[in-house]
Amino acid sequence: MKALEGVKILDMTHVQSGPTCTQLLAWFGADVIKVERPGVGDATRGQLRDIPDVDSLYFTMLNHNKRSVTLNTKADKGKEIFTRLIEECDVMVENFAPGALDRMGFGWDRIQEINPRMIFASVKGFGPGPYADCKVYENVAQCAGGSASTTGHLGDVPLVTGAQIGDSGTGLHLALGIVTALYHRTESGVGQRVECAMQDSVLNLCRVKLRDQQRLQHGPLEEYSQFGEGIAFGEATPRAGNDSGGGQPGRILKCRGWETDPDAYTYFITQAAVWKNICDVIGKPEWKEHPDFAKPVDRLPRLNQVFGAIEDWTMTKTKFEVMAICNPLNIPVGPILSMKEITEDESLRKTGTVVDVAHPERGNYLTVGNPIKLSASPSDVVRSPLLGEHTDEILKDVLGMSDAEITQAKELGAV
Ligand code: COA
Repeated sequence: MKALEGVKILDMTHVQSGPTCTQLLAWFGADVIKVERPGVGDATRGQLRDIPDVDSLYFTMLNHNKRSVTLNTKADKGKEIFTRLIEECDVMVENFAPGALDRMGFGWDRIQEINPRMIFASVKGFGPGPYADCKVYENVAQCAGGSASTTGHLGDVPLVTGAQIGDSGTGLHLALGIVTALYHRTESGVGQRVECAMQDSVLNLCRVKLRDQQRLQHGPLEEYSQFGEGIAFGEATPRAGNDSGGGQPGRILKCRGWETDPDAYTYFITQAAVWKNICDVIGKPEWKEHPDFAKPVDRLPRLNQVFGAIEDWTMTKTKFEVMAICNPLNIPVGPILSMKEITEDESLRKTGTVVDVAHPERGNYLTVGNPIKLSASPSDVVRSPLLGEHTDEILKDVLGMSDAEITQAKELGAV
């Protein structure tokens, strides 16, 4: 039995943040019923298409293990069916623009009236306040959540990161809120509202930068490269390039082949506990006891010199050789893996983190499986549903509608 088997999720989500959340719940065994507008569906079905007229990878990779029902929740008959679905489900998840569900006639008060056990979970761009009404996308959240101002190189423009911390990051937060509310409901018997603002989720993931903002009031941030370079700090946490966010200095360094391979780099951390190993590996045994280099505090003003010497060594090795040499010595390093290398990584295939999925219209494609592994509830990846693929099945199984009722609903344009 899957961990969330028996839990019915009424999935009103679209694009990325909400679907990330419901996909996770589906992997854990919940019955996720994705409600989509008839003939239209989730907009991402048609976005960034690589094959004409076939659900995009954007859609397929975010909607595994779900069932799709088409329903016009603005038509009278559609509202009636939607009300019955709310009665039958445990959780409703949505990430519409602010106010959309109220305009549909299904605000939180109405949902509670229909089903007091319902857990109603929402993603919005911002929490209550001046921006509560804004529509928000990934990069807006990265900027408003503090990530962009702290990402990039000193003196250069703020950068957004490729990891979708605004969308997928918020979906992860929301999923945790939902299972927490489900747990609470087992005792209390009542549902509750779960809200995640994308700005808040990004900020939560950037909390070390808020830490540094406060440390700045007590002096310069000595582990930042700009300290050793004699560059004064301003009033806000600066961009720190590839400096590590912890107390152990780290940087991205060139490896053999960097001239032609854009990903021939390694991350290298000068972990204090293994400093002597680092000195031996890079051919600087004299630095082990040297007063300028022996202690972490001595090295801070000389990080360019330190990492320059390490890079002289890493440039003689491939990123995988660096890993093979440093790992046994407990020196933390990490190769910069390209997406191509990740698709070819056998160990990721073996753990189910990278999965090959068959799809009736697009053929086989690769996706990322559930990164959370439960020993008693392993996840299988089931291809995403076609638009409305399970409409009849859901109306019959979940709502007990007859064939005649379903035909009538279709004639009324409700499904
Ligand atoms: N039947 C009938 N109408 C439906 C429907 C259905 N099954 N599903 C959706 N709709 C309607 C909505 O009610 C809404 O109508 P309204 O504007 O008349 O009230 C309309 O479709 C569009 O919904 P909306 O959410 O406004 O989509 P959008 O494309 O304009 O905006 C976002 C997209 C992502 C910007 C917006 O949904 C948003 O800000 N969401 C919250 C933050 C978020 O999740 N952002 C990241 C997305 S990855």
